[in-house]
Amino acid sequence: MAKKNQIEAIPVGKLTPEEAEAELARLASDIGRADEAYYNKDKPEITDAEYDALRRRNLLIEKRFPKLKRADSPSDKVGAPPSAKFEKARHAVPMLSLDNAFDDEDVAEFAKRVRKFLGLNEDDKLAFTAEPKIDGLSLNLRYEMGELKVAVTRGDGETGENVTSNALTMADIPKSLKGAPDVLEVRGEVFMSHADFKALNDRLVAGGEDAAPNPRNVAAGSLRQLDAAVTASRPLKFFAYAWGEVSEPLGETQTDAVKKLGKLGFKTNGLMKRFDSVDRLLAHYGEIETQRASLGYDIDGVVYKVDRLDYQERLGFVSRHPRWATAHKFPAEKATTVLEKIDIQVGRTGKLTPVARLTPVTVGGVVVTNATLHNADYIQDKDIRQGDTVIIQRAGDVIPQVVEVVKGKRRKGARAYKFPTVCPVCGSHAVNEENPATGKADVDKRCTGGLICAAQAKERLKHFVSRQAFDIEGLGAKQIEAFFDEGVIRQPADIFTLRLRQEAGDIDLYRYDLDDKGARKRDKSGKEKPPTNLKSVQNLFDAIDERRRISLPRLINALGIRHVGETNARLFALHYGDFQSFCDAAKQAREEDSPAYDDMLTIDGIGALVARGLIDFFDEPHNREAVDRLMQEIEPEKVEAAASSSPVAGKTVVFTGTLETMTRNEAKAQAQGLGAKVSGSVSAKTDYVVAGPGAGSKLKKAEELGVEVLTEAGWAALVKR
Ligand code: IVH
Repeated sequence: MAKKNQIEAIPVGKLTPEEAEAELARLASDIGRADEAYYNKDKPEITDAEYDALRRRNLLIEKRFPKLKRADSPSDKVGAPPSAKFEKARHAVPMLSLDNAFDDEDVAEFAKRVRKFLGLNEDDKLAFTAEPKIDGLSLNLRYEMGELKVAVTRGDGETGENVTSNALTMADIPKSLKGAPDVLEVRGEVFMSHADFKALNDRLVAGGEDAAPNPRNVAAGSLRQLDAAVTASRPLKFFAYAWGEVSEPLGETQTDAVKKLGKLGFKTNGLMKRFDSVDRLLAHYGEIETQRASLGYDIDGVVYKVDRLDYQERLGFVSRHPRWATAHKFPAEKATTVLEKIDIQVGRTGKLTPVARLTPVTVGGVVVTNATLHNADYIQDKDIRQGDTVIIQRAGDVIPQVVEVVKGKRRKGARAYKFPTVCPVCGSHAVNEENPATGKADVDKRCTGGLICAAQAKERLKHFVSRQAFDIEGLGAKQIEAFFDEGVIRQPADIFTLRLRQEAGDIDLYRYDLDDKGARKRDKSGKEKPPTNLKSVQNLFDAIDERRRISLPRLINALGIRHVGETNARLFALHYGDFQSFCDAAKQAREEDSPAYDDMLTIDGIGALVARGLIDFFDEPHNREAVDRLMQEIEPEKVEAAASSSPVAGKTVVFTGTLETMTRNEAKAQAQGLGAKVSGSVSAKTDYVVAGPGAGSKLKKAEELGVEVLTEAGWAALVKR
């Protein structure tokens, strides 16, 4: 597998499952950190574009590898949990987020998905609204019998902060309403205008305080002041654009409902318009984009919503987004700089990844020094050469990309880049392996050095101690680098003998400053530093001992077997139950016609490619020896089967024939939402076949196999139980 910090550079389409898994873990953590910084500290650490890129990448990976989706996937979460300062309040209706579209094609696809879901034809009428996406923070205002009762921030979407006393100080928020439904929750965006932001900043600076970074931050900080008097002194504005719980509908369409909010006394955005074709939506997007700079407040895109509310109802939600809306973001920024050098990084499974070292340049507020070049083909196709002036982009991908070479600026004599044919770390041959699934040569070159290659060995160890594997506190990538270079840790078992070796005087860990993010420290003369970090060394030993008992999925994942990441490790663990059976099976499965091999392939989700990865791993004497040594140090736990929640959770369902109360997509979404798997074909593994009129061969097959067949009504009854 590619190095951790290289995986970010790999396009989603090129990720191996194990890389995807590592990447999903990283994204979950990075997004979590960004959410915390943005929502709870009001101090974003990354730009909105970067944040969107993280989320988009996460989603794309989940789409490509649905099985790898994490239980704590950021796709299922909105924002960060509320901060402890304010009283918490639960939303009657969750406050969700919007899916993103980054180009015209994404918008067209959004409209197409909507049509498909609703079962509409090309010529059936379907109207959308388009309006600016305000860059502020969303707020839910609950009115009961026309009185403002409570104002709650979005928080994590389920629970937010009760900021009622602050909301009461805002001029744009009516305190009471006439002619409103008995229960009415109005949702919209709190923001600060450019003019007010500038005035406030001048005031802050004059008073010796720090200037605020942007209007959104000040708006958030102002609304979340514990002292309502401070909020009152900050000119916050509010646009209403949505609603939560309502005791009676506000209208039949989005347009009517928003008009009604206007009549009730809320400010609504004048740029919201209704259109009945994608082309018109896009034209309005262009219009809003041209006006962007002169609006007087920050917007970061255009939101499209299905106009008919009965359609919105039917479309419903998928994880954290409504299916009936999307946010068309303004484009990512590009910049021109010089590609000084192409470096090759070697990953855990030997993959060679080219990285562009750039003359630092600011793109979208962030200084960029590296960009991905993906692989040899990418460099060749674009004819990228060292010393070239290049255009880089930070867009719907995490790491900046080199998108174009400015050929006119190429210096004379610049030679085409030759991708290495040997590993830059160990000198072993680097080859394009054949992909057993396609029979074609892989685009990626891999070092054939295996554990001989220091880069691969180190990356494997880093993976071994990583968060989803042994998760040893105090032993991170940097420490592994240092320990490996010194020969203190060369294979996993060495980690568990550190204490003994230290006590025997074979090694001296006090020479390393373990607190300093792994940077090795000695005194100036190069001699041992006094044991000031005695405690951290002892803590490390304790942390290691704590992990001698380890769950089976973690252990299997930790081994770094090609194609076996968290998800497949779990599948193997569940199937084999204990480590010994797993190893035995892997060794016995060497012959492709052995019962052990056949048995391995009966595991739902495990195919020939993964099986090959596992078999090859145990075929390698190095690996067998390393595993044996490790097993003398640790004690893997056995696995227990997981419990299910809904009546169809974990079941496999096939829909066939015509469904009458919903489209196929609706049915599928409903089933998946309840934890079922939806399959297109009937087999012995199918639990239910839901058959409507006109069902043919699938129904017949179900009957032959004795699979339970349900009518649409029968299915509805089952899932409503
Ligand atoms: S509609 C179910 N309309 O964008 C989602 N949201 O990424 C209903 N936002 O949480 C939201 N302008 O804070 C909507 N015109 C607009 C918006 C808007 C800004 C924000 C809002 C939301 C976030 C979603």
